[in-house]
Amino acid sequence: MTTVRDVSAKAGDEPITMLTAYDAPTADIVDDAGVDIILVGDSLGNTSLGHDTTLPVTVDDMARHVGAVSRATDDALVVADMPFLSFGVDEAASIENAGRMLKEEGADAVKLECGPHTVDLTEKLVQLGIPVMAHLGLTPQHVNQYGGYPRQGTDQAAAEQILDLARGHEAAGAFSLVLEHIPSNLAAEVTAELETPTIGIGAGPECDGQVLVVDDAVGLSEWSPSFAKQFGSVREEMESAVDDYVEAVESGSFPADEHSHESADLDEIY
Ligand code: KIV
Repeated sequence: MTTVRDVSAKAGDEPITMLTAYDAPTADIVDDAGVDIILVGDSLGNTSLGHDTTLPVTVDDMARHVGAVSRATDDALVVADMPFLSFGVDEAASIENAGRMLKEEGADAVKLECGPHTVDLTEKLVQLGIPVMAHLGLTPQHVNQYGGYPRQGTDQAAAEQILDLARGHEAAGAFSLVLEHIPSNLAAEVTAELETPTIGIGAGPECDGQVLVVDDAVGLSEWSPSFAKQFGSVREEMESAVDDYVEAVESGSFPADEHSHESADLDEIY
């Protein structure tokens, strides 16, 4: 089993690999490939639940999918993303929601979309034994403030703010930092200054590791952001298989003899 200590030890030596997964078969494939960290992202809202944003994702949604992923994972560190307003509003509720992911669903750590309001919470969760991955830069739960999903940290003041938040969450005990959609030179600066491993998504090659949404990586998404790369074409494969199935049923070629069975015992009845 990969631990948060293994992740820290790997940083700087070898790139840390992280992918999302939302269900057991995908987690099984990702885990077998030797990925270090599986993130059950609240991107689940977009990829699997048919929402336009991550905002409607609930703690119950996350719990169900974190459980499925944890049960199918033998080696990777499983990180549960905390959904919109499940943390940072009330400390006791934040602890209960995060604790549920470890206690009931088998996660090893939680991820928080961070701001100044999550520094103390990170410290408290870590003290209680809940490892925290801090997510900085573009935090999609702020979509209504941003008016979309723009690059972050692109001017000096915004870059300083991200660097300060990174320092604050390192001091609070976060075991890793996700840096999303920020300039690669800012990500390089955060990575060089901090000991905490950085894991980039749209943040350039200098981070200690990389993460992508699995649907983007395998080519299942209908749309994916400019910083994502498709390493396969699963959508095309599925479309072709489904077309073939429909054609086979409509033409009568499926089911064939080998997909059916007869029972001799029924001869007297019919
Ligand atoms: O929800 C998610 O999948 C994420 C990753 C993109 C980092 O937060």
